[in-house]
Amino acid sequence: MLFDLAFLMGLTSMVPKFVPDAHQGQSQAIIAPPTQYTQMQTQCGASGIASCQNTSVVENLCCFEAPGGLLLQTQFWDTSPATGPSESWTIHGLWPDKCDLTYVENCDSSRAYTDIAGLLTDQGASDTLEFMQQYWVNDPDDGSDEEFWEHEWETHGTCYSTLQPSCLPDGSPTGAEAVVFFNTVVKLFQTLPTYTWLANHEIIPSSSATHNLDSLISALQAESGYIPALDCKGTTMDSVSWYFNLQGSLVDGTFVPIDAPKKGNCRSSGIRYLPKGAAE
Ligand SMILES: *[C@@H]1O[C@H](CO)[C@@H](O)[C@H](O)[C@H]1NC(C)=O
Repeated sequence: MLFDLAFLMGLTSMVPKFVPDAHQGQSQAIIAPPTQYTQMQTQCGASGIASCQNTSVVENLCCFEAPGGLLLQTQFWDTSPATGPSESWTIHGLWPDKCDLTYVENCDSSRAYTDIAGLLTDQGASDTLEFMQQYWVNDPDDGSDEEFWEHEWETHGTCYSTLQPSCLPDGSPTGAEAVVFFNTVVKLFQTLPTYTWLANHEIIPSSSATHNLDSLISALQAESGYIPALDCKGTTMDSVSWYFNLQGSLVDGTFVPIDAPKKGNCRSSGIRYLPKGAAE
């Protein structure tokens, strides 16, 4: 098997890296500091052609994410009811869209794991779980956090080609690929501090202020180097999507940030960025 010698789970801290490229002068170094997260390693490497950037067929889909090679790290700004810390956006998920912006979901019901919290704890990812309990939280009207995590895994996580169990090192425990998924989403989210990036441009939640889409996007682009997609409910901003291609495997590859290939649904002006928990 390809990965016999690479089963170094627990010995490495290899996780996908977010490496801004040089095409934007003001791009910040936003690689997260090392953390205690440990994760397995493949022999894919973290370089090579990025997903959706190939010009011929790539055969080994353990090391090349396809067909869902357009990754969106989606975040919520939930104000009513408010969820999560008042000075942070929260995690929605990491979605593998196809390169043409269509997508597939629910790719393997046999891997629709339950008790994600137990899975993470059992496989040494309780630090990831603790972070999720603060930053990957459900709207209480929609259900529990656990239900949200199960939904995100089953709906989106099971569609990653590079997380097929056969792509993992021999001997990996059942559910190890879901543990990789949650570790990776948390780690990537930590490199995308949307709240702080807006605050750095004096854009902070307010019950009265309104914003132009251009000024919101400009602030986020100045901080990250890339253009995200912003979504609104009515006039209220409630979601952001940060886009990536992936070099190598989701297990230990490199996230390549890209500009959003389409706009979100926010209107061009009169956008509200409401405080969490404040009366509207
Ligand atoms: C890129 O690779 C994928 C996976 O093999 C393949 O489906 C797709 O057609 C390739 N794209 C191009 C432009 O060849």
